[in-house]
Amino acid sequence: MLKNFAVAIALLLSQSLLAETGQRPTDRSVAAGKALYEQYCQSCHKRDGVGENPVPPLIKVPGYLVAMPLNETSHAWHHSDEQLVEAILNGLQRTPRMPAWKGILTAQQASQIVAYIKSLWSDRILACQGPRHMSCM
Ligand code: HEC
Repeated sequence: MLKNFAVAIALLLSQSLLAETGQRPTDRSVAAGKALYEQYCQSCHKRDGVGENPVPPLIKVPGYLVAMPLNETSHAWHHSDEQLVEAILNGLQRTPRMPAWKGILTAQQASQIVAYIKSLWSDRILACQGPRHMSCM
């Protein structure tokens, strides 16, 4: 009985914190995520997640990575919600330009931002999000 209760609570918590890969997020989480995105992410990933312009090869510093689009034109949708939240909170090893946002953003805020990012994708792309992307398209 007590065990079932604990399982139910854990399920509820995981559902409210983690958005669901492949599912449309709620309007509320998208709106919350959009405000956070504008504040913390848009300077690099740009309005509507279109990403930075490529740097012309002649002036490009070796190893400098531009912020890729987070809309459906790049591969953000190849990652599950959990992987995106993880990338946001812990940053990316491959470039110091994408820092760890842990300490600035909570896990819930990171998943709200993921909800906003997902709102930029079409139904077709959303349905193929994450591990399914290899076989789906
Ligand atoms: C100072 C610039 C900068 C800021 C601010 C920034 N990013 Fe990034 N981001 C980058 C760069 C650079 C990369 C890596 C590009 C690459 O690997 O080619 C990246 C990569 C990512 C990726 C990996 C995408 C993929 O397809 O693998 C995600 C997700 C991401 N950023 C989300 C965010 C979010 C959410 C925020 C705001 C909380 C944010 N970024 C803020 C520069 C930035």
